[in-house]
Amino acid sequence: MKQKYTVLAGSAFAALILVAFWQTRSPESETTIEAVAGGPIVAVQSPLMEGNAAIGKGIFDNACASCHGENAAGTNGLAPPLVHKIYEPSHHADEAFQRAASLGVKSHHWPFGDMPPVQGLTRGDVTMVVAYIRTLQRANGIH
Ligand code: HEC
Repeated sequence: MKQKYTVLAGSAFAALILVAFWQTRSPESETTIEAVAGGPIVAVQSPLMEGNAAIGKGIFDNACASCHGENAAGTNGLAPPLVHKIYEPSHHADEAFQRAASLGVKSHHWPFGDMPPVQGLTRGDVTMVVAYIRTLQRANGIH
């Protein structure tokens, strides 16, 4: 009887060691994933901004970048990159940006939750933001 318990305890211990080993190993195998909470979601090249796009960058940096990230590269855990195939003009026309800013967005493409309306922007402001986003998208081969 006593021997049986020893065997049982022995195999439980072995199982524990295996689990512990597995747990220390799995994060190691994930180091290739560069996703960092709060970090960018995609790599974005930012060209020199001129005209409306330059004005739009200023507005975006104030009103949108806190969620969508610097250069609209997204923020892990918070909001998607706008420099992304999903947001090319044929999928999300300029009017989608106007609606997003004035009415907010019900979460549907991503697991980040809803986007609240952004206060204090005119349609003209958002037109500038769109010029900026389209410039970034073109420079990054989105369209
Ligand atoms: C508080 C965080 C937050 C801020 C600030 C924010 N967004 Fe968003 N935005 C989100 C999230 C989250 C989504 C993704 C919703 C989903 O799951 O599709 C989103 C989605 C969008 C979309 C996609 C709309 C659609 O029809 O699918 C556009 C366009 C957009 N945002 C533009 C902007 C612009 C422009 C600004 C600044 C004026 C801005 N956002 C500011 C969080 C934010």
